[in-house]
Amino acid sequence: MATKQKAPTSQFVCSTCGFVAPKWLGKCPDCGNFNTMQEELVRETNTAKTETRRGVTDMLKNRALPLSKIGYEKFDRVNSGISEFDTVLGGGIVRGSLVLLGGDPGIGKSTLLTQVAAYLAKSHPTLYVSAEESCSQVKMRCERLGVVSDNLLLLNETCLEDIETAIGESKFVVIDSVQAIYTESLSSAAGSVGQVRECAAKLMRIAKSQNVTFFIIGHVTKEGALAGPKVLEHIMDTVLYFEGQQEDNYKLLRAVKNRFGSAQEVGVFEMTETGIKSVSDYADLFLSETRGLAAGSAVTPSESGNRCMNVEIQTLISKTAYGMPRRMSLGVDYNKLVVLIAVLEKRCGIPFFSSDVYINAMGGIKLDEPSVDLAICAALASAANDVPIDKFTAVFGEVGLTGEIRPVTYADKRVNECIKTGFKQVILPAKNMKACEKFKDKIQLVPVQYVGQMIKALSLRPMQNND
Ligand SMILES: Nc1ncnc2c1ncn2[C@@H]1O[C@H](COP(=O)(O)OP(=O)(O)OP(=O)(O)O)[C@@H](O)[C@H]1O
Ligand SMILES: [Mg+2]
Repeated sequence: MATKQKAPTSQFVCSTCGFVAPKWLGKCPDCGNFNTMQEELVRETNTAKTETRRGVTDMLKNRALPLSKIGYEKFDRVNSGISEFDTVLGGGIVRGSLVLLGGDPGIGKSTLLTQVAAYLAKSHPTLYVSAEESCSQVKMRCERLGVVSDNLLLLNETCLEDIETAIGESKFVVIDSVQAIYTESLSSAAGSVGQVRECAAKLMRIAKSQNVTFFIIGHVTKEGALAGPKVLEHIMDTVLYFEGQQEDNYKLLRAVKNRFGSAQEVGVFEMTETGIKSVSDYADLFLSETRGLAAGSAVTPSESGNRCMNVEIQTLISKTAYGMPRRMSLGVDYNKLVVLIAVLEKRCGIPFFSSDVYINAMGGIKLDEPSVDLAICAALASAANDVPIDKFTAVFGEVGLTGEIRPVTYADKRVNECIKTGFKQVILPAKNMKACEKFKDKIQLVPVQYVGQMIKALSLRPMQNND
């Protein structure tokens, strides 16, 4: 298969300075950076040939036009059979688009797209290209999910040129995964930066010219970015990240880019034995039943995409057994945790230097907005002083290094969510108070300016300074 067509000339280009070399080099001779030389195809510069191939209509299409002469293009949307997936895509799958689905290993990417493909196959020719698993593995998954259908075509292939031939009449194609396929035009191994970029570019050309919709699975690196170049995201129409801890049943699907809808959407899914299901009632999803009984837990309304969800943050503090205290965080940025511990030590006099601190956001959700700072502080202070926080109290606000509490975005939406889910008190930044005054009759609002005031308001400890 490898001898089918010898690759045309490829070259190695430094991703930092653009230096071009005919061979791979460990160090770029121009800028001196290591490991920056990436293989690329040498493109033909003779465009006349391509122009002839495109034909007259296409050439006319490429003429510049004034806005008034440009008609509206109606996006043809197709239902995916999973309501949350449709929501994240902005109201359904747009024909001829490229959707990239990224996520940690084993999170359920193949499961989700197998279900979508099986649903689409009922009414459209659909192909599932499995470059990572054998066809029988995919069949077994289909049987487990209860979506066995003869309309869904399976292909176990890694060569992009062969996949292109197999696409035939298919209008929806799943590629599992982009890191496992390769194009014969490049000699580098599948999964390398050059290969991933070239394969994605070729898939885009097929998608746009034949109006085929591609769902492309991409693996993420340890840091959480999509493996392969960032350029992969530029080529795609929609980029979705599947997140959540593997051991948790709940997963979030987040749109980080969407050319056909809002990039703020988030879908909530539940992973069950029989596949992935949409979760529409997520009010209590990220809250424990025992909150309010034990010290160390605080609830914060977190804004994820266009949804606001109350999430519980739990902390555990124990005496350090060794010289160095440990800090561990799940769902919350580690550096944020360390900074907030320092703020509490310095500004509120709560000592953590001889304690191990563990923190966890419930339900495997990732909390990365600044508004969770105050809830982290509340949970830490509650655990350190062994005083539980009231079950019906929520906390939000950004904490500065001086211990001041800064306003956050969507304050009214957050308070509204607390009212909807039966909370009785919200501790919020004083500067957000104006936007939330309208809720005064429905919920008790406690504006605070310093971390110390929050601790006092929750009766977690008498304050020393900044209160
Ligand atoms: N027999 C089974 N019963 C119940 N759940 C299962 C079963 N097999 C797999 N799963 C669930 O499906 C998940 C794996 O799903 P899937 O293969 O879709 O993940 P993936 O993101 O495609 O992984 P990879 O990156 O390895 O391709 C597992 O983590 C597990 O939770
Ligand atoms: Mg998979």
